[in-house]
Amino acid sequence: MHPLTRLALGAALAGAAAVAYARWEAQSYTVRRATVAVLPPSQPPLRVLHLSDLHLVPGQSAKVQWVQSLRTLRPDAVIVTGDFLSHRDAIPHVLDALDPHFAVPGAFVLGSNDYYAPRPLNPAQYLRGPSQLEPRRAMLPWQDLVDGLTSNGWSDLGNTRSTIEADGRVIDVRGVDDPHISRDNYADVSGPFASDADLALGVTHAPYLRVIDAMANDGADLIMAGHTHGGQLRVPGVGALVTNCDLPRSQARGLSSHLGAALHVSAGLGTSPYAPVRFACRPEASLLTLTST
Ligand SMILES: [Fe+2]
Repeated sequence: MHPLTRLALGAALAGAAAVAYARWEAQSYTVRRATVAVLPPSQPPLRVLHLSDLHLVPGQSAKVQWVQSLRTLRPDAVIVTGDFLSHRDAIPHVLDALDPHFAVPGAFVLGSNDYYAPRPLNPAQYLRGPSQLEPRRAMLPWQDLVDGLTSNGWSDLGNTRSTIEADGRVIDVRGVDDPHISRDNYADVSGPFASDADLALGVTHAPYLRVIDAMANDGADLIMAGHTHGGQLRVPGVGALVTNCDLPRSQARGLSSHLGAALHVSAGLGTSPYAPVRFACRPEASLLTLTST
């Protein structure tokens, strides 16, 4: 065999192996744990399950069952930071996945993929900066999703403030609708958090700086977000190449600090159905153990 032919064949095989691995990793769900010291002194820990970016489509029974199984972590509250959907018929599957979790208080925001049906992606767009909302994307029945979640007692935080009581602790929580598609209106929720709350919490799908700056400057103890998919394709030793927003790449997933607030970004559980791959970035749920300062 000609050396160039052998080289081309080797490169093709290596590429196919990398894609096969990345498709496997996209199904390889894991729980990431973090401890955050944000509660007032002398309180017992509070366990918060952070879910994000499920991107459910019909037929993903393994993902549904895995999310259901997270009830065994016995969280005191659940926060979901959007992108539940990647298909117009996925809402019953989302509610099925979350059904065991409705036993505890919960709150959520929506992401762009809850409003609009997915469209094929241009891989060349990946490194070019935040994605743009394409015209002609069909609307999804997002109001049915909101109704399904709120009828089970969870709070819709889209440009809204709320108070959640979890394990006897009072959480003053505010959220914005998705900044990635300019649906955020922080003015609707701005101002100091309640001084007598045990936790001041901000929630957003996409962690754009204009939103997390405002939440931190208003005194949030903790800000929770999704959207980034942790970069989705990470380079070992380098990390995320993109965040799909203006958040620095070093904060693409996990716990960091932002203007005095703790920031937790979930790498999420799913992918676009048109890019079902992850590399060095397993799909995750996060269990945050909040402790006293
Ligand atoms: Fe997403």
